[in-house]
Amino acid sequence: MDQPVTVLGIESSCDDTAAAVVRGVPGDMQVLGAVVYGQTDLHAQFGGVVPEIAARAHAERLDVSIATALEQANLPLSAIDAIAVTCGPGLIGGVVSGVMMAKGLAMATGIPLYGVNHLAGHALTPRLSDGVAFPYLMLLVSGGHCQFLIAHGPDRFERLGGTIDDAPGEAFDKVARLLGLDQPGGPAIEVAARGGDPARFAFPRPLANKPGCDLSFSGLKTAVLRARDDILAGQGGLKTQDQADLAASFQAAVADSLARKSERALEVYLALNPAAPTLCVAGGVAANMYIRTLLETVSECHGTMFLAPPLALCTDNAAMIAAAGVEQMQVRGPDGMGLSARPRMPLDTQSASMLGSGKKGAKA
Ligand code: KG4
Ligand code: ZN
Repeated sequence: MDQPVTVLGIESSCDDTAAAVVRGVPGDMQVLGAVVYGQTDLHAQFGGVVPEIAARAHAERLDVSIATALEQANLPLSAIDAIAVTCGPGLIGGVVSGVMMAKGLAMATGIPLYGVNHLAGHALTPRLSDGVAFPYLMLLVSGGHCQFLIAHGPDRFERLGGTIDDAPGEAFDKVARLLGLDQPGGPAIEVAARGGDPARFAFPRPLANKPGCDLSFSGLKTAVLRARDDILAGQGGLKTQDQADLAASFQAAVADSLARKSERALEVYLALNPAAPTLCVAGGVAANMYIRTLLETVSECHGTMFLAPPLALCTDNAAMIAAAGVEQMQVRGPDGMGLSARPRMPLDTQSASMLGSGKKGAKA
């Protein structure tokens, strides 16, 4: 039995500045303190995240986030066994802010430092929330990412497929902008869709009939734009009902695409004969109840358990980074001061690159 460890987690890869303290052993962990400072208000007037503003806000708020998380845990920094920090993928200015802060703390105190892949943090979340056993199937769906992974271990992930263009959260945000709804677009579309008809617009399910688990969302966004422009040309503006029907039809298309490809991914995963087969979902888009319900139905049809962590652990947070630190401490040594921040950082380095991969490797 492993000895329980206490890990300070730091997250600053996009527009949330977060710190958390997690204590436990792999698969049995407790969050002792957790703080997330969102930046929605700072970026609102620009219609999206401005990297320079994000990086500056992280630099200003990281110290107070860490101090508050330690205060909540009622622990001094000297009680921390390791510092885990997101070292990529993400907006480079923000990732650098977090890595520099973590390095400074590690250097000053001698506490071991672990660089954690942000995607591993999301993908390991069901180990923190539910103590699920390896292997499990993970659908990671957020503002910047979309992939099916088999989590074999704390640092071993097999990617079965993912988006070849936009991430679903990105599509929700762009479509919300087209419909004149607030940012972030996901929650705004979910609310608008409640009064809408998901069958009014037959939006495409790109790649639905192609084998494999890859997905595409950019054509869907264009289809919503065309449907909106047709309405605008016909009646000069969008009625509330049009907005609701467009939102509902778009949300149904995203959910349907994710559900269909989840079936494919489940087939691959179930061929491994896992003892307690589980489909997990994580990332901001996992907060969507319509999507959760459809995925739960798919899981039930395949005799598989379905796990969706609480919302605070789905969207970006540092508890998932600290928990990934607890897990990874058991299988590898710490990183040194040579740890670097990386804008791109695929989780599965063995699988073939996805479309859209650049010189630095597969698009994360
Ligand atoms: O995981 P997250 O906080 O940050 C990234 O790592 O990207 O995800 C943020 C994304 C945004 O695009 C937001 O619109 C989307 O998650 N999102 C939702 C919902 N809540 C947040 N999408 C659909 N339905 C929701 N209820
Ligand atoms: Zn994320």
